[in-house]
Order: sequence, then C-alpha cells, then structure tokens
Amino acid sequence: MRPQAVVYTSATGFTRQYAQMLSQATGLPACPPDGPDAPPRDTPVLFLGWLRAGTVQGLKGALGRWRVAAVCAVGMASPAEADVSRLARSSHLGDRPLFYLRGGYAPDRVKGLSKLMMTPILLSAKHAAAKGDPKAGALMEVLVHGVDWVSREQLQPVLDWLEQP
Ligand SMILES: Cc1cc2nc3c(=O)[nH]c(=O)nc-3n(C[C@H](O)[C@H](O)[C@H](O)COP(=O)(O)O)c2cc1C
Repeated sequence: MRPQAVVYTSATGFTRQYAQMLSQATGLPACPPDGPDAPPRDTPVLFLGWLRAGTVQGLKGALGRWRVAAVCAVGMASPAEADVSRLARSSHLGDRPLFYLRGGYAPDRVKGLSKLMMTPILLSAKHAAAKGDPKAGALMEVLVHGVDWVSREQLQPVLDWLEQP
C-alpha cells in the first residue's frame, strides 16, 4: 500500500518540518488533518504525529479516516530511549511500520494544556539537577532553552521504506 499523501500533526513545528522534508524528497503532498488539502477518506497515507505523554497525537482519528500505511512518531526522547515496539503495541498499529524521529523542544511555542503538563516535569528536573543529577540537568537545559534535533538523516529509513516495491 503506497502512500499517496503525508498527513501530520504538529504543535510546535518539528513534525511539520519532517513532513515537508518528506514531501520534498518524494513529491507526495503534505498536509495537516484539518487542512483544506487533507486527502479524501480511505486514501493510503503516511502519518506523522508528535508524541505527547507517550501517545502519537492525531493517530486515532487518522486510523479511522485513512488507510494509514506507516507511522512516524516525533518526540524528544533519544532514539535509544524511545521504546518503539511498545509504542507500536499501545498505538494498535498491527504490522504497520512505525518509525521514531527525534524532533526537538521549543518552550516558547508550547501552549495551553501541553504547557501545564510540562510544569511538574520541569520542576522535578530542576529539583534533581540542583541535587547534582546530570541527566536531569541536561533535561532542564532542553526544557528551559529548547533544542532542535531535526535532521534529514533520520528520514533515511522512512525514505528506504517508501522506495520498496
Ligand atoms: C506535554 C508534552 C508531552 C510530551 N511527551 C513526550 C513523550 O511522551 N515522548 C517524547 O519523546 N516526547 C514528548 N514530548 C516532546 C514532543 O514530542 C517534542 O517536542 C516534539 O518534537 C514536538 O513536535 P511538534 O513540534 O511537531 O509539535 C512532549 C512534549 C510536551 C509539550
């Protein structure tokens, strides 16, 4: 089932960047689910969604609306920390491929409920960092100053999968 479009959700822009890079590389149109160019129901799509509290945002709706051929989850965890097989199970993906892409963190663009959800995480990272925990210190840096890990290289496995006959 070759995707005919890339559909993405993105709160702060990193997933949109990946979707646009994929669109440029493949010629497939890329659009958000609620955009005017969203593909018709049952179109085969490649779905990209940002991760919030271990859930790929927008995926549930996408699975009911399009023929989702594969999924890219975009988060801030390192690829080594991201438990892709667990995420595939909890997302009910069956045998669809799931790719993990490291996006970034943009504190100035995190709004509403998401901002609220990050407050206790930031406080506990600050607390642990003050006690000398280096991992918490690194997380605090990211949460306070932001980071952009988006790279073309991370898309290579997705592009290889798309090129499969
Ligand atoms: C409230 C909240 C919860 C998050 N939960 C996760 C998570 O469970 N796993 C993860 O890897 N990243 C998590 N992130 C980080 C985002 O997935 C990351 O910033 C992503 O690049 C955002 O993509 P976007 O710019 O397309 O919205 C979370 C971010 C926020 C604000």
